[in-house]
Amino acid sequence: MKKFLLFLLVPFIALTSTAGGAQLSVAFGNVGKDLDVLKEFFAMFKEKTGHDVNVISMPSSTTDQFGQYKLWLSAKNKGIDIYMLDVIWAPQLASHFVDLSKPAAKLAKLHFPSTINSQKVNGKLVALPYFTDAPMLYYRKDLLTKYNRSVPKTWAEMAETASIIQSAERKAGNSKMWGYVFQGKAYEGLTCDALEWVNSFGGGQIVSPSGEITINNQNAIKALITVKSWVGNISPNGVLSYQEEESRGVWQTGNAVFMRNWPYAYNLSNGADSPVKGKFDVTPLPKGEGPNARSAATLGGWNVGVSKYSKNRDAAVELALFLASPEIQKLNAIKSSHYPTIPSLYEDKDVLEVAPFFSIVKDVLKTSVARPSAPTKRKYNEVSKLFWSASQSVISGKKSATSSLKELESRLKRLKGKGW
Ligand code: GLC
Repeated sequence: MKKFLLFLLVPFIALTSTAGGAQLSVAFGNVGKDLDVLKEFFAMFKEKTGHDVNVISMPSSTTDQFGQYKLWLSAKNKGIDIYMLDVIWAPQLASHFVDLSKPAAKLAKLHFPSTINSQKVNGKLVALPYFTDAPMLYYRKDLLTKYNRSVPKTWAEMAETASIIQSAERKAGNSKMWGYVFQGKAYEGLTCDALEWVNSFGGGQIVSPSGEITINNQNAIKALITVKSWVGNISPNGVLSYQEEESRGVWQTGNAVFMRNWPYAYNLSNGADSPVKGKFDVTPLPKGEGPNARSAATLGGWNVGVSKYSKNRDAAVELALFLASPEIQKLNAIKSSHYPTIPSLYEDKDVLEVAPFFSIVKDVLKTSVARPSAPTKRKYNEVSKLFWSASQSVISGKKSATSSLKELESRLKRLKGKGW
């Protein structure tokens, strides 16, 4: 009887909520097939709540997105209810977002405390996790086997293997083969890559967690000199204008032995139409040299923030909670190989079936390196810009590592002034 009643009621509930549903807008920068997947989630949300969601499509470069967001937020734009926020932005944009501590009190407890804390500014929970991010080294299993090379543990091993396979494959007729692709364009992506090089040589975090400028050191210099030696040799000169998708383009057409990229590239590279499907695997990024050498992966990730200027605040909060729910985190892991921020999902059978490498990811995440957005607060974007410009001038051969990092240090000092 109860079941029968429910059966009668369900269409009624759905109908009333559709009729009263809000129209929400979400600003989101697409990479790979993230937008298609997000739209599927919006369809699920509509079915559940009756609220309609449309996407305001943003540029894929996080740097360009940030510029546009800042304009909209300072104009108190009422047309955007939700912003997808890069993990580094909370300290800079906090004042424009609704505090989600109360509505997400229960949900937040399910997520990694470090992820939740990264989105807290003076006690305010600025955004909820959509996914976390840490890159891996993608490598061609088939080519490593063919040339009898092992999976590299250091950058030196990576470069040697890349060079050997690149020349052998070119001799065998593939003139387009490259050893290593990464993100070398002057934007936030290069800050991530360059921080990994520097940190993997024991060269610190640009600015230490306590706010001290540490970038001008011998290990950082060594790291950048090493990368410079790759450009034009095992990496195409074009890598200096690559973002994530350009690197994936070269890799996924089968023209790179190694690639540095975020996990989203895993499912795409294993897609039915991918020439490298089944031919590759991933491993933690290689270590640098020296006594403090380590494998360093920059911590990335995206979070859902509700704009203070939204006219549909309640519905927008509902959507933020939905996008950070265990159900969506699991689907996002399966459909897009995005790392969840709910620990149990790393042991989930369905997730591991499509992304077996998740079993090693917890360790990569534990030791991942944060960009100095917390200590440099509102000045982070400027810090990052100075860092990626200095790094690019070295790896492109425009300046020596010594003079570039010295100059960077004095620019950072000027920017810091009396404090961040
Ligand atoms: C990825 C990361 C993000 C980072 C960006 C750089 O999207 O998740 O944190 O800033 O790449 O391109």
